[in-house]
Parts: sequence; structure tokens; C-alpha cells
Amino acid sequence: MPAATIEENPLRAGLRLERTAGPCAIVIFGASGDLARRKLIPAIYRLVQQRLLPAEVAIIGLARTEMTTDEFRSKMRDAVVEFSEDKSVDEEVWNSFAQAMQYMPGDIHNPDDFRKIRELLEQSDRERGTQGNRLFYLSLAPEFYADAIKQLGEAALTKSEHGWVRVIIEKPFGNSLESARELNRQILQHLHESQIYRIDHYLGKETVQNLLVFRFANGIFEPLWNRQFIDHVQITNAETVGVEGRGGYYEKAGVVRDMIQNHVFQVLSLVAMEPPATLGSEDVRDEKVKALHSARGFTPERVRAECVRGQYGPGAIGGQPVPGYRQEEGVAPNSATETYAMVTMYFDNWRWSGVPFVIRSGKRLTKRVTEIAIQFKAAPHPLFGAAMEQIAPNQLIVRIQPDEGITMRVAAKVPGQVTRIRDVNMEFRYGASFGGKLAEAYERLILDCILGDSTLYARKDMTERGWELVMPILDEWAERGAEVDFPNYEAGSWGPEESFKMLESQGRHWRRP
Ligand code: BG6
Repeated sequence: MPAATIEENPLRAGLRLERTAGPCAIVIFGASGDLARRKLIPAIYRLVQQRLLPAEVAIIGLARTEMTTDEFRSKMRDAVVEFSEDKSVDEEVWNSFAQAMQYMPGDIHNPDDFRKIRELLEQSDRERGTQGNRLFYLSLAPEFYADAIKQLGEAALTKSEHGWVRVIIEKPFGNSLESARELNRQILQHLHESQIYRIDHYLGKETVQNLLVFRFANGIFEPLWNRQFIDHVQITNAETVGVEGRGGYYEKAGVVRDMIQNHVFQVLSLVAMEPPATLGSEDVRDEKVKALHSARGFTPERVRAECVRGQYGPGAIGGQPVPGYRQEEGVAPNSATETYAMVTMYFDNWRWSGVPFVIRSGKRLTKRVTEIAIQFKAAPHPLFGAAMEQIAPNQLIVRIQPDEGITMRVAAKVPGQVTRIRDVNMEFRYGASFGGKLAEAYERLILDCILGDSTLYARKDMTERGWELVMPILDEWAERGAEVDFPNYEAGSWGPEESFKMLESQGRHWRRP
């Protein structure tokens, strides 16, 4: 009997009351890479440690690197130690986890290696009781996604007689609208959409998931969540890191491809969407994509008037000098790749007509922070006259990372005989309210995939719509590549001046979180 999935019980879909997954084999392609070491193996280990995965689990690592299973186990043990909070492993858990792990040197272009994978999977069904359930994790360079899936198809590994087969595909999913469509077309020749899990780790973040709860489990916010009460929405995704040795990749990406088209649009759609009919994965994803469908497209004029690009020069982060983007390894000395972007979005629908959603995302900014700030309209009548001049309109700030929480900024009277008014914060913090550590995004997402819940994964139409929206921005910038005067912001600053000026010209101001 195949393991029961959440989808089979629609009443439970999205609620995930039952979190323990059934038996399965996990095949990681690209197992000698950085992602497997930093994120995947530590996440699977923690799932085992929390008993969210059963004993009937097998992990097969595959990569071109020659290595024995023992060597692989020992490397992965080091990784679990390195990326755990207390820099240790639970020996008992580790020993049984290590037993579940095997390594196979192989090449995703070699059909013989896929035959070997099949044998190993059949063996784990027999010896470890994995019951024919298979999860293939493509932690590969993006140019290999389609080939790997084709090989899986040709080796008859995309179907399992007794169980399920699912494939997790890492980002980036395409590099343009055309390439994303082509990739979807190729992989859908071998897999059904319900088997494809396009990962976006932002959706695994606890606070991103809380957006749905916050909006739709409370009665007080939703009535205000529209053009009548909201002046504008700011989404800030600021990083202090630079390109972290990935200059070669980043040169072809830039922040719009790397962050905005996927992570930021996922968050944006959760803020802008209508309430879904149920928490079933299709209902939630239908609403998200519907929101993006009402997003206004970009014309070259809109790109010039409402978007800003930037690239960092040398500067300092936390008092330490850091090089400029053009001085990073693998980056051209005259690179026109953007490391910062401001994009102004409008949703042409009843709820949001006329409300700007301003997005900024950048590397090497002052502070690491991702937040959504909903700015409400000012009180309609200045009853307190001049005393109100010092205060800003109400803001609701959803902090995605770090210091996860929600802050409401309201006006309050300063104690004393005269009426003076000041802004104060009403705060909810995850740490203070719930204690403990929030689960890593990859833990949540891998477990969801094993449970057959794709709500927190990007559907085909969502990835394509994301590309459709950003392509005119990228095209316009590519066309005017030579015109840019980069670098135009200092590492450690809040980004280019032009971005501040653009918002100020509308009578609005970027927050300094
Ligand atoms: C990745 C990008 O998807 O997300 C990186 O490729 C970026 O460039 C990272 O640094 C940010 O993730 P997080 O979880 O640290 O905000």
C-alpha cells in the first residue's frame, strides 16, 4: 500500500495535523555539492531526529566525485555538526541515520548509472522497507535539470508500481520566460505536474507561512487589507552578504532573477492574494497566481519611471572593509549586472487599484532584513492639529527575518499636561511568544514533499508568470546597459540615492528598518 498523503484527505490538506511521513527513499543528485552539505542532509537528519521521518527511509547520494559510502557518511556527519546550532550530533540518531545512507558515484548523462539507481532503490525497498516511494532531489546545475529528468523517464524511474515518485527541482527555474517555458515543457514530457516540486526556500520560512494565518485567521486585518485603508506596501529584502564566491553565476543572474522573480514574488503574492476557498494546495496556489495575473505589466516607460537598478561599490559592512561587486571573483570589471533593484508593482483589481507595492532587494546593504511594511492611510481628520505633525501614518510590519515577528506602529499620547503625540510599537515576537528555534525552511519543505503537500512549492504557472512580469524590466535594462553608471551605491549603505528620490517624488519614504 502506498503511504497515505495529505492530498487524499482534503479536509486535512493545508492543516498538516499529521506530520509524520511514511517510508521513502530519497535520491540526491549532486550530493557532493554545497547545498547537500549545508542544507539537505542537515535538514533530513533533523527530521529523523524529531521522528518526523520513519525508520523506513533510505538516502542515496549521487555525484560525479569518486567517494565510498563510508567517506560520504563521514563528510555528511561533519556537515551536520558544522550546521547544527550546538555543533554536535546525537550519536544514536546519527548511527541509524548513517545506516540509511549510501553513496554512488555517477553521471546524470549515463543511462547505466540510472539502471544502478534503480537497483539500489529496489534493494532499499527490500532491505529498508521504503515501499516503492521515491523522492529525487535535483541539487544540480540548472542546465542539467531537463537531462536528469529525461534519464529518469527513460529508465522508467518516473513511475513506481507500488508507491509515489516526486522530484524536487532547485532554483533557478530558468533564466528567462522562454527558458522557463522550455524547461517546463521538457520535464512535463516525463512527469505529471503533481510530481514536480519546484522549491522556493522562502515559502518554507515560518513567518512567510504565518502570512496566511495572520491574514485569514484574524478578523481584524482583512477588512482593512485593501485600497480604502492602505496607502502603499513596502517589501524590503536586504542582505549584507555579497555574491559569496558565486560571481560567475551572479553575473548572468542579477538580483531580479536571483531574488525578485521567485522569492519576493512568492511573498508578494501572499500579501496581495484573495482568501483561498480552502487550504488545499491548488486553491492556495490558484489565488497566488491570480494575484500575479492582475499585476500590471511593465512598459519601457514604466521601467524608467518606476524601477531603479544598482550595483555596489567598495564599502564597509559592520566596520569591515569589503570589495565592490566588480572586484569580486568571476565578475567582469565593467559588469552591468544589478545587485540592487527597486520595482514598483500595481495590482489592477478591485482590492488594490492604485496602491503601489514597492519592492527593493539588494546585496551588501546596511543590514540583513526581510520585511513587509503595510502603510495605512493617515487619519482622515487632524483632530490634534500640530501635535499630529510629528507622527507617521500607522504601519504594520511583518518581519520575515531576522527577529521574526509583527509590529504595529500606532500613535499614542506622551504622558504629561500637554497633548504631545508620538509613535509607539505594539510588538509580537516569535522568540518571546513561543520560545525555541524556528525550523529551517528545508526541513519543512522536504517533509511536505514526502507528505505529498505541494502548497509551499511553486506551480508551473506561477514560475512562468513571475518571468513574464520581470522580462520587460530585464530587457529594458539590457538595452540600456551601456547607459548605467555603476557602481551607484556603496557597500554598507541602503542602496542607490535614485531609489530614495523615486519614492520621495511620490511623497513616500523608504523605511530604515
Ligand atoms: C538564494 C539566492 O536563493 O537566496 C542568494 O541565490 C541569496 O543569492 C539567498 O543570498 C538568500 O536567502 P536567505 O534565506 O538568506 O534570505
